[in-house]
Amino acid sequence: MVDEQATIAPAPSDGHAAGVVRVAAAGDVHCRVDRREAALESFAAMRGAADMLLLAGDLTTTGEPEEGAVLADACRGIGMPVYAVLGNHDWHANRRDELVAAIQQHGDVVVLERDWRTCECAGAVEVGVVGVKGFVGGFPGSHLPDFGEPLLRAVYEETSQDVAALERGLRAIELCPVRIVLLHYAPTDATLVGESPGIQAFLGTDRLAPPIAEHEPTLVLHGHAHAGTFAASIGTVPVRNVSIHVLGRDFHVFELPDHAAAAIH
Ligand SMILES: [Fe+2]
Ligand SMILES: [Fe+2]
Repeated sequence: MVDEQATIAPAPSDGHAAGVVRVAAAGDVHCRVDRREAALESFAAMRGAADMLLLAGDLTTTGEPEEGAVLADACRGIGMPVYAVLGNHDWHANRRDELVAAIQQHGDVVVLERDWRTCECAGAVEVGVVGVKGFVGGFPGSHLPDFGEPLLRAVYEETSQDVAALERGLRAIELCPVRIVLLHYAPTDATLVGESPGIQAFLGTDRLAPPIAEHEPTLVLHGHAHAGTFAASIGTVPVRNVSIHVLGRDFHVFELPDHAAAAIH
């Protein structure tokens, strides 16, 4: 069971139940140089209010390293692990290496690209995070095919690599009591309700769903669908669209209980 706080109220460091991990999340923060102060203020408000911060892509507006530096400065000394995936906006300037270096420059943020990490939170609960941007591909009725022009098949292959990385990561963190999947693109169309049906293929793909259904992580987060829906599920796994445009606020805090015994099977 995932308990979700309606609001973020900074709590004392020992003000939450033992074995419960507080995970703050946001997608589509779209940092900009001319909104630097607003970003610093927003992230500063999170200090002490969570045990971990997850950012579901579109960290910047156009992918310029200067925008990444705004995020790095906003997270500087925030006092909790911060994991992020890139989004399509972060690739736009085609300066991926410089952008990731800028975001990670102070050592507070780790950008996960088809990768995973574990860390101890909230009194030594081991939390595993798999970070995969995901990609386009569509849903029943809008699937892109693995057929025809090499460019189109390359798009299909790109998504295939994300699916494989998701599977690998989930296998790697299988024994963590709390396991989180962090995506930018949606793994289900149920969190896209509100978006135009005509663009669903560009908002994600259910090709990302089978590893989630098989490994049953504690929580799946994504962004990208600014006009989508907050809550849905893949089987019994909660999927949350944490785009700030959907949240209507800067962050959402999830309280995830330690299900160690139940998670090992
Ligand atoms: Fe976005
Ligand atoms: Fe996006």
